Amino acid sequence: MGNAAIQNSSRQGEGEEIVVLGIESTAHTFGVGIVSNKPPYILADARANYKPEKGGILPREVASFFSSNAAKVLRKALEDAGLGIRDLDGIAVALGPGMGPALRVGATVARAIASRYGKPLIPVNHAVAHIEIARQVTGLRDPVVIYVAGGNTSILSFVDGRYRVFGETLDIALGNLLDTFAREAGIAPPYIVDGKHSIDVCSEGGTYIDGLPYIVKGQDVSYSGLLTAALRMIEKGYKLSDVCFTLREIAFSSIIEVAERCVAHTGKTQLVLTGGVAANRLLREKASIMARNRGIEYGAVPPRLAGDNGVMIALTGLLALSHGITVDVEKALVRQRWRVDKVDIPWYPKILEDL
Ligand code: FE2
Repeated sequence: MGNAAIQNSSRQGEGEEIVVLGIESTAHTFGVGIVSNKPPYILADARANYKPEKGGILPREVASFFSSNAAKVLRKALEDAGLGIRDLDGIAVALGPGMGPALRVGATVARAIASRYGKPLIPVNHAVAHIEIARQVTGLRDPVVIYVAGGNTSILSFVDGRYRVFGETLDIALGNLLDTFAREAGIAPPYIVDGKHSIDVCSEGGTYIDGLPYIVKGQDVSYSGLLTAALRMIEKGYKLSDVCFTLREIAFSSIIEVAERCVAHTGKTQLVLTGGVAANRLLREKASIMARNRGIEYGAVPPRLAGDNGVMIALTGLLALSHGITVDVEKALVRQRWRVDKVDIPWYPKILEDL
């Protein structure tokens, strides 16, 4: 993301430049990113993260936090890019999936800018954006995708025009499992710092113990039974470090197992890790070992782009705009349960350097 002077000089003398601003507001992050189809690609990445005092996320509280920070984040992104709204070629917005009240803040801001300045409005699916940012930064064009976050756990790959789901959690998401366990076991805050979740810190010195369920059903994983059983073990007086170590081992190994079967089934030769939990060092290591054992290429989204951000929305918006995908302002409604396999991906396997 260098400074404005470098960006301006590197953009001189090239073909037609397209610049898109993207707004993310599906969960706990209000993010505004600005992306160009020319190097250095990422021109701005401004964010405000909602962190609850304690407990989980309350959608209304998030929405009010977003409303009071939206203008500030937008201004910061434009300043960092050295651009005005008039310089933009499109406004992309994550319309789902996510929490209704939070999504509506981003959608409202995007619709307002698009109509006020007469800019194309580009609808973006949040899960597609997590995949596109991973393909873009790793250069792996046709991978099997492990998408793990607070609210999502799925194995995906592109087949026949769309990202298809080859496995997912039957109940809670991997990030939710780790965060809820940390909170209930009293080792919160669970936020990832330097690639480490509080579960990782707690696991240090722990060893594998018997008694926790490893649940893989066909191509799906299940984590809620694991969560309940682990909390029960704490109550029974098992060593916290052993329970943390074992919970983490089972949770990570089961998702890697279904990813490996997807690789075998699809015959794809690349693997990519994305989403908030992709910042976890141990999970990155396990994914890379699996890829190495199978002799396929591996990459992971860098930790700073693993969590929710506006850059991935802008990037996906730019790819979509290059295929004329826009939405009328009055039809740009949020879709809380917008499934990834409902979205056509006509630009595949293009990334920005092809535009
Ligand atoms: Fe996300």
